Order: sequence, then C-alpha cells, then structure tokens
Amino acid sequence: MSDLDALRLEALTAVASATELSEIEALRVQYLGKKGAITSQLKTLGQLPEAERPGAGARINQVKTEVDAAINARWQSQTAIAEAAKVQASAIDVTLPGRGLQRGALHPVSLVLERIEQFFHSVGFESVVGPEIEDDYHNFEALNLPAHHPARAMHDTFYLTDSLLLRTHTSPVQVRTMESQKPPFRIICPGKTYRVDPPDPSHLPMFHQVEGLMVDEHCSFADLKGMITEFLRVFFERDDLKVRFRPSYFPFTEPSAEVDVQCVHCSGTGHCRVCSSTGWLEVMGSGMVHPRVLEMSGIDSEKYLGFAFGMGPERLAMLRYGVSDMRHFVENDLRFLEQFQ
Ligand code: DAH
Repeated sequence: MSDLDALRLEALTAVASATELSEIEALRVQYLGKKGAITSQLKTLGQLPEAERPGAGARINQVKTEVDAAINARWQSQTAIAEAAKVQASAIDVTLPGRGLQRGALHPVSLVLERIEQFFHSVGFESVVGPEIEDDYHNFEALNLPAHHPARAMHDTFYLTDSLLLRTHTSPVQVRTMESQKPPFRIICPGKTYRVDPPDPSHLPMFHQVEGLMVDEHCSFADLKGMITEFLRVFFERDDLKVRFRPSYFPFTEPSAEVDVQCVHCSGTGHCRVCSSTGWLEVMGSGMVHPRVLEMSGIDSEKYLGFAFGMGPERLAMLRYGVSDMRHFVENDLRFLEQFQ
C-alpha cells in the first residue's frame, strides 16, 4: 500500500507536467493500461490476508479513478491550448490589402467630357442626350443639309437602312431640343458619333462630340466669342491663351467660324509638328444658327437668335494630355490608361 501512495504521487506529478498529447496518452497506458503500474496493483491483492482485500481493492480503484480524472483533465486543457495555437498560426488578417490589386481610373476622354460639362454647367447650360441611331431628317435635312447637298460628302455615313443611320455628329440633338422645347435654352449635347473613317493617328470610326446651343431673344456672335474663349482658357488653364475665329462654312450656321487656339505645344511660336508650324490648332466649329434651321424646328427666327458650336473630346484630350495618336484611346493598353490615375 505504501507502493500505491508513491505510485499515485508519481503518476499525478507526471500528468501535471506532461504537455504533448502523445505524452499524456503514454502516461495513461503506463499507469492505467492492462499492464499499467496501478492496474497491476490489483493483481497483488491475492497476496494479502483475506480481511484486508476489500479495503485495499477499494483504495486501488479510488487511485485509478483519481489518476484517470487527472489524465482526462490534462488531456482536455492541452487539447484546448493546441487548438488555440493552431488557430493563431493560421489566422488571416482580413484588414490587409489583397495582393496585386489595381485601382481603376477614369478614361482620358471621360475626364475631358467631365471638364467640358463642368464649365458649361457653371454658366447655365444643361446636358441633353439623344439617340445614336438617327434618321436622315434629324442628322441632315433639318440641319439644312438636304439630299445631294455637297457638304454631306464630308460625313462618311454608316447607313443602317435607307433612312436610318449612325449619327455623324451630335448636332441632331439641337434639332430634337428645338422641336420639343420653347426657347430660351442653353444646352450641351455630349455623346458618341460615327463615321466611316478607318482608324489612323487622327481618326476613329467611333468618336465623341459635344454640341452646344444657345437660343434666346438677345444672343449675338459676341456672346459666342466670349463664351468659347472663356471655355478654352479654363479648359487649357491659361488665362492669356490666344483664341481666333476663322471664317468657315457649315450649312447649319451663318456666319460660321472655325475656332483655333494658340498651339499649346509650342505656345504659338510655330516651330513644332503638333500645329504643322502654323502656331495655331483648330479645336471646334461654331456659328450663328441659320434662320432656316430655327424655322424648320418651329422657332420664330424673327424673334430668336442662336449660336452653336461643336467640339471633339478626343482631339481636346490629345492636346491637353499630349497624346500623339487617337488610337491609344481605344486600345485599352494599361500602360497608357494608368497615366490618368
Ligand atoms: N456638326 C459639326 C461636325 O460634326 C460640328 C459643328 C460645327 C457643330 C459648327 C456646330 C457648329 O454646332 O456650329 O462637323
């Protein structure tokens, strides 16, 4: 029995200091297994006087139960620690940024469209959109471009049917607005336009235009000049940018003018390829709305006057950001697009 007390103490001490689960399992075998040290004590019962046997048997079983409980408790606590360590080791910090995440950016043409809209909204113009599939009447006829008019030749048109086409400019949105609203109005019409132009450094079959139109009782060429000059100075961020209006021809305006700015690359000195050594860059068309165009859309040309202008955001983006080839805008090359972040 003194062996039993020593065994009990030895077993409990060993269990208390065991850390590995395999170690704890080995102790269970060592003390409580079929041939374990404590189990073996039961086999010595036969050597005792008969009267002492029940007491001794109970005592051995009590120690067995106590050591068994200690082993189970230790097993449980060590399992919990091992689990916690495993979780800790495999923990993921969900606040870390993902690998190789790239941020997108607005397309340069969108940036330019935003700048154009921002300026014109600030001076009272509203944005209006119209259909990209147009009819011959709104794209040409109502803009004083009847069938067989020679100026139609400049619009290499994608026809869908005899009378439906992909609009070649955003000017038809002017017509739709004049037909459906009462003047005065100030609108800009941004959108996609199409022409049968194979892609080259300065042409794309699909490109953008922003049309502008103001119709009011008092509306002069001087208003047009002032508005456009101010816009171009804000757009190119140069207070002293030189702007010139050069006589031109558009069927829907009279008089008509092409608007040039001093070359933003050589500052007008003319030693440059961007402006073909002229010192000037053409940036838009403009003019006073032709009285016939007003009349065709039901506006009294005796009472109202209008000015209109049309510009190409791709061209403006090329000048503002120094892009030498219009095709870059549609190639989706990340090395190009990333520069506009
Ligand atoms: N629609 C013309 C084009 O695509 C651009 C234009 C020129 C629009 C003069 C206008 C304007 O409103 O007055 O070539």
